[in-house]
Amino acid sequence: MKIITVVGARPQFVKAAVVSRAIIEHNKEHPDNQIEEKIVHTGQHYDKNMSDVFFEEMEIPRPCYTLGIGGGSHGAMTGRQLEKIEEVLLKEKPDYVLVYGDTNSTLAGALAAAKLHIPVVHVEAGLRSFNMDMPEEINRILTDQISSLLFCPTETAVENLENEGFDKRPSKIHNIGDVMYDAAKFYEAKSVKPDALKDQTNSFALVTIHRADNTDDLGRLKEIVSALNELSKKMTVICPLHPRTHNVIKSEGLNLDAIVLEPVSYFEILWLLKNCELVLTDSGGLQKEAYFFKKNCITLRDQTEWVETVASGWNQLVGANAQKILLAVENVTENLEWPELYGDGTSAKKLVNVLIEKV
Ligand code: UD1
Repeated sequence: MKIITVVGARPQFVKAAVVSRAIIEHNKEHPDNQIEEKIVHTGQHYDKNMSDVFFEEMEIPRPCYTLGIGGGSHGAMTGRQLEKIEEVLLKEKPDYVLVYGDTNSTLAGALAAAKLHIPVVHVEAGLRSFNMDMPEEINRILTDQISSLLFCPTETAVENLENEGFDKRPSKIHNIGDVMYDAAKFYEAKSVKPDALKDQTNSFALVTIHRADNTDDLGRLKEIVSALNELSKKMTVICPLHPRTHNVIKSEGLNLDAIVLEPVSYFEILWLLKNCELVLTDSGGLQKEAYFFKKNCITLRDQTEWVETVASGWNQLVGANAQKILLAVENVTENLEWPELYGDGTSAKKLVNVLIEKV
């Protein structure tokens, strides 16, 4: 069986790392039933600390194709990726195309494959924020529509697909749990303190901001920054900053009272997660990772796809209102129950088993 995996953005490298490892394990155990995986990197994320560092650290197989298509408008990026991925697929003729999550690279990979009648495997299918203003919501809905195998991370994701009529279609839905939970469990032991924090011993809040909703709306960004500046009077705030957020803060001359870091590697974010007091973020992935590490999370968005984290009390959805953010910090609840919401850390193996049974 031949698979082309399309990745492009940071969280996809983490997911691909555990699935590629499961494929390699499978190949060792089943020499007569091999899966050949070739990775295509679209280049959506291209800075060394947004891309290369993940491949090196997690020993992800090197991409066979690097397309170098990052930056630009959404349409231009997606369109250029679509064209180049199609060329690869025509040459490689894979049995499946595997895509992760909800980025422009996800949609480009899925669309290129579907147009060539190559079955699409969507990992992290069925998530919905019900906010069509988010580029990610458009990407994930369209990708689900043209996928043959839908791997959901949660029961809510399965229900979302059923509500959209997917259970009456030929596409197959499997709840395998979350491959990011596999990654957190597997790599936790390798977590490493960022060099820039070597003299840092205070307790701290871990903060990330990168969503277009927050970075492109100056009003929202100013509210978040003002809340963080207030919070920093009580607690150290550590903020690894996405290049786009960094650029806006700089160009607008905003003052952020925080220890601002370059984007950190996966092993470094694991250290920050393990050692922080709480997490404030607009990232989808980090909301869950906070949960994996039993940390309270305050989500700087108006909706979340990870509704179980909110229902269980570990995550508060507050948007970008300074007062609400600070109130949420006061309202953090200790000693909450921690049900296993995202599987048991063997999602990648389950995914490979389903693929193999399809042959
Ligand atoms: C993308 C995904 C988002 C995901 C995030 C993970 C889409 C629509 N969004 O958002 O779902 O949560 O990745 O991080 O696909 N930039 C750099 N260097 C880089 C990468 C980006 O400077 O290595 C700058 C570029 O100027 C770019 C901007 O950041 O225009 C935004 O990058 P882009 O890939 O469009 O979206 P993300 O915000 O990273």
